[in-house]
Amino acid sequence: MTRNERSLETLLAQGARFLDRETGAVVPPIHSATTYARDDRYETTGYTYSRDANPTAAHVEEVLAELEGAEDALVFSSGMAAVATFFDSLGAGDHVVAPRVMYHGAADLLRRLAERRGVEVGFFDASEPGALEAAVQPGRTSVVWVETCVNPTWDVIDVRAAAGVARDAGAVLGVDATATPPVTLRALDLGADIVFHSATKYLGGHSDLLAGVLATRVADERWEEIGAARRRMGGVLGAFEAWLLLRGMRTLHLRYERQAANALAIARHFEGRAGIEAVLYPGLESHAGHETAKRQMTGGFGAMLSLLVEGGADAARRIATRTRLFVPATSLGGVESLIEHRATVEGPLSAVPANLLRLSVGIERADELIADLEQALD
Ligand SMILES: Cc1ncc(COP(=O)(O)O)c(C=O)c1O
Repeated sequence: MTRNERSLETLLAQGARFLDRETGAVVPPIHSATTYARDDRYETTGYTYSRDANPTAAHVEEVLAELEGAEDALVFSSGMAAVATFFDSLGAGDHVVAPRVMYHGAADLLRRLAERRGVEVGFFDASEPGALEAAVQPGRTSVVWVETCVNPTWDVIDVRAAAGVARDAGAVLGVDATATPPVTLRALDLGADIVFHSATKYLGGHSDLLAGVLATRVADERWEEIGAARRRMGGVLGAFEAWLLLRGMRTLHLRYERQAANALAIARHFEGRAGIEAVLYPGLESHAGHETAKRQMTGGFGAMLSLLVEGGADAARRIATRTRLFVPATSLGGVESLIEHRATVEGPLSAVPANLLRLSVGIERADELIADLEQALD
């Protein structure tokens, strides 16, 4: 069996591309050096300076590229460093399309690019059929940026359909797949050009590191420019964090499976309960995006769900202070369950419903998590 015939699960579990040749260690070393010596012909080893490339980061990039079916992958010091580097090439006259409700940090970055650089941004409503097609300007739009599932309403964007729209318009499709790691959705296989993850979330999985990933279907000129922008702006991942990311990823498939099973149990339990107006979870048959989710999320519907509660923002905030197992904290995808009142976290520009509580479900026991939410709602 060649490396490329490995299943994703085996690739993740093994995590390493080699045994350390000198020592036989089954876990790769952390290369903390910032600079690398040249040989007696003054040639480099391939490494010169750690802002250009680092062997520990290169190792995790290789695993990520294989996971995504990408020609190449790059890791960054945070998700936002990756997003900012991706959009750095845009200037006056460029037209970008993105969902109205999306990760608020990326939306904020796009708004600033519009104000400061003259990039034109068309926000579309991801819950409205045909809205993406209407927002795209064929021949003019250079980037279509989508998120799936959309944080925090978990609307499902059909990546294959979005890829068709982008291709017909002559635009690049970038997918923020933070909420759908490659054990459930491979965006490049569905036609995306670039896939992005905040690796701070599922990929790291333990709420102990910030990291971002971009992976590309084709290592073309645009990709070269993204690599050059990373070198220029310096948002590289440190060696220790790269090592931690690799370590976290080795259990991604197991964590994801358990988290998705827990989330589905919670969603089913609370759907229709008194005091809950709606449960937003793509794994529920009642969810508008369920059929698309079933098609493109082949490894489960994820750990993320939102509850729309009766009583508005005050009631929602009160519930978020009453849980004993769900930790009242932001972020997602880690092994511990979190709850947050999203509108408070996002601030006055938030497009999120005021009564929305976002849950990130961990690997605890589902019955205990359900009991915790029950007592907080009571
Ligand atoms: C969907 C999504 N995209 C991007 C980001 C930004 O990533 P980071 O916090 O690692 O910079 C986040 C962080 O919450 C996110 O949830």
